[in-house]
Amino acid sequence: MLKIKNITVNYLKAPFGIQGEIQLGWAMESDRRNVTQRSYEIEISENRDFSKLVYESGVVSSAASAHVVVDIAWKDICKYYVRVRVSDGQEISDWKESYFITAYQKQESWHGTFISAETQEERNESGATLIRREFSVKKEVAAAYFVGTAHGLYRAYLNGAKIGEDEFRPGWTSYHKRLLYQIYDVSCRIRPGKNVVGVMLGAGWYKGEMGFEHDRNHYGTRTAFGGQIVLDYTDGTREVIASDTEWKGAKAPIVFSEIYDGEIYDAGLEQPGWKLADFDDSAWKKTEIVSRDLMTLYPQQGKGVQKITKLSPAAVFETPKGETVIDFGQNLTGWCAFTLENAVAGDVVELKCFEVLDAEGNVYTENLRKAKQTIRYICRGGGAAYHPHFTYQGFRYVQVVRFPEPVRADRFQAYAVHSYMEETGSFQCSNELLNRLQHNILWGMKGNFLDVPTDCPQRDERVGWTGDAQIFSSTATFLMNTYAFFDKWIQDVAADQREDGAVPHVVPDILTGKCENNWLCSQGCEGASAWADAAIIIPWNLYRAYGDRRILMQQYDSMKKWIEFMTDHSEEGCLFRYALQFGDWVALDAEEGSYFGATPTVLTSAAFYCEMTRIFSEIADILGRKSDHERYEALYEELKESFRKHFIHEDGTLTAQTQTAYIVALYFDLVPEKLRARAALELKKLLDKENGHLVTGFIGTPYFTHALSRNGYLREAYELLLKEDFPSWLYSVKMGATTIWEHWDGLKPDGSMWSADMNSFNHYAYGSVGDWMYRVIGGLEIDEKHPGYEHFYIQPQIGGGLTWAETVYESIHGTIRIRWEHKEDYVMLKVEIPVNTDADMILFGAGRMLEADGLEFTKTEHDLRARVGSGVWTVKYIA
Ligand code: BGC
Repeated sequence: MLKIKNITVNYLKAPFGIQGEIQLGWAMESDRRNVTQRSYEIEISENRDFSKLVYESGVVSSAASAHVVVDIAWKDICKYYVRVRVSDGQEISDWKESYFITAYQKQESWHGTFISAETQEERNESGATLIRREFSVKKEVAAAYFVGTAHGLYRAYLNGAKIGEDEFRPGWTSYHKRLLYQIYDVSCRIRPGKNVVGVMLGAGWYKGEMGFEHDRNHYGTRTAFGGQIVLDYTDGTREVIASDTEWKGAKAPIVFSEIYDGEIYDAGLEQPGWKLADFDDSAWKKTEIVSRDLMTLYPQQGKGVQKITKLSPAAVFETPKGETVIDFGQNLTGWCAFTLENAVAGDVVELKCFEVLDAEGNVYTENLRKAKQTIRYICRGGGAAYHPHFTYQGFRYVQVVRFPEPVRADRFQAYAVHSYMEETGSFQCSNELLNRLQHNILWGMKGNFLDVPTDCPQRDERVGWTGDAQIFSSTATFLMNTYAFFDKWIQDVAADQREDGAVPHVVPDILTGKCENNWLCSQGCEGASAWADAAIIIPWNLYRAYGDRRILMQQYDSMKKWIEFMTDHSEEGCLFRYALQFGDWVALDAEEGSYFGATPTVLTSAAFYCEMTRIFSEIADILGRKSDHERYEALYEELKESFRKHFIHEDGTLTAQTQTAYIVALYFDLVPEKLRARAALELKKLLDKENGHLVTGFIGTPYFTHALSRNGYLREAYELLLKEDFPSWLYSVKMGATTIWEHWDGLKPDGSMWSADMNSFNHYAYGSVGDWMYRVIGGLEIDEKHPGYEHFYIQPQIGGGLTWAETVYESIHGTIRIRWEHKEDYVMLKVEIPVNTDADMILFGAGRMLEADGLEFTKTEHDLRARVGSGVWTVKYIA
């Protein structure tokens, strides 16, 4: 039977916030093999029974099941129902239905003014405020929506219940240029007669303390809410209750809430019933208007940050020093929640969140730098349940400094809080340590995708370091559907990019002009190779994984400006020299006490300049921008030549004898074909010199295993990945890591630690080796000519003593599964290929085919290969 499994709108299931043209896609299933779509039919309607159609495609003879554009004029804030059916020439599927909700199609349609319950004098405070408005519903409601945003962070309630599951709204963007608003369907919460909308506002990233110098008020001095309730009546009329100074304000029981430092909540200040009708708000004051350029409001597409995973304590124990500590068994980002049964008014709960114990097993908070990560709760009396609101902590452990009742495990819970993204990938194999590493990579992602891709979630940093995001983006995009997340963030990259094309080190950029005293930014806060390159690498990775050209078009000017910036600041061809370059950041071959690896930054920067130009010239080609394509292709050839001239000797050795130098030169294909073998041999020698260990940092690490396996050193690549002693990925696993560390030697073999000023235990960058695990061990490789897995390669490279591996990826076309088992005398490979896609199966080193499952294999010098259509296939061959 032919079935549509799911429909996506702009790569999301049933999204809210649609503006302008949409891209529809659908994944299909069939119990037959080799199924391809012949035609599709789409209908979009304003009502559920599809009697008010606004769009009908008719039967379209086409194989397209992704990126199908519908561009019609949508109504503002309206739910549309969409259904699709398809035919493969033999069968017609049933209709599959979904829906989406539109945003305002033009910024001008926005109604609410921005209102604040704070005064200018409160600029240095971070207590929360409350805002409320009663309204009455006199007619029958067909649909109701809440549309809102804020300066600061907000949580909204309708008739006592929280609206939507999102937290930390409106998220963090380059607020002056782009502020996102959210839309929630509240139809089932509206009732006849009196209704109340309530909003709680916190300082958040907008006016709270952020950055190296702990500055506050980065974007403004007062929190404010702007929004409206939209009521559609059954008589066809629409009423909008927009924010204005009729809305009243008061102080919230949150007397302090800061991203780094935590929250203080005085339950004695609660005003029971404030979210409900008939609450006496006569003591509340009028709100005041705060200015806001409404033209900079944009809809949030898709879901926001949510409570995703709930964990119970693994243990509650006392440290040698006598501290009471809860261990959640997992380093995470989010909240510690607790319940009280019968506290006395004025009793205090105090919790300190932290990542690791020191060598003696005591509480260790030094690596948090100045971030306090402390929660204080003052009881009102009686029972209570609490979790923080406008702050988050990076922690595995919680020190219970004060708790008025017995500290029992069942009173505490941890919530991992991050941007909601569907999990799309998984990897498992016969090596338990590798599976554990995989788990740590996933948790590194969960820990640092809180609205923006952050470097770390615990110390006083937690900012969108572009380099870290770029390094991890392809691994992330395997693990979860990152499309909406990165699409949002990459628009901020462009928004914060300087006029001259320089891309800031962190996005949203809160560092420029604010950290002259910090050595890292003393020469400026922009323009670092491999960091700024996020502007190109991330859209490119999204294009590869989702096949989406729109993202390339959207980011085109930003990418081009960055290439031009590098060109403007280069000499003798590829030598890009601009301000401070981080280079192979925190590599182990750095001089004692230094963060800068031994590979000259002029080499790494030149390599990235070459590679970015290559990618950009390809993008220009994909988008049909012929003259740009020709221009940048020619520039790339020049740069490559120049790189060779400056850094590669005639015998294939490099001017810098470091692992990272060889890795980038090989991985970015900068070594002439005839010298590759020699360069690869040199890399192997440098690896041997370290006894098979890496000494690489942010630049070399992500590509190390690829540089080896692509150049005839698969065995060495496996050995590198499987090393268990220091320094290695599995070293941290064996040391009990549950996330990815910032430093290979975050925790040294003797129990001592790396300098506390830069020692995060939740830094996803080195988790980028995940990319190699899915692509090489798993064997799932994108075909750039048919991106989005429309056609792909299945080419596992078996090794490392693994007896099996299973890689599953939920592509936009459906489930891809690759499982191989290495038996004593043969290999079994079982694959699942989605309907309307096909793959080339390439069996490296395969000798004789034992069972071909009807596939026609051809033999080449190094492999057996066959074209495989959709369905489940199992082959057996002698390796
Ligand atoms: C961050 C890194 C970042 C680096 C820039 C650090 O403070 O935590 O991950 O990329 O600075 O070199």
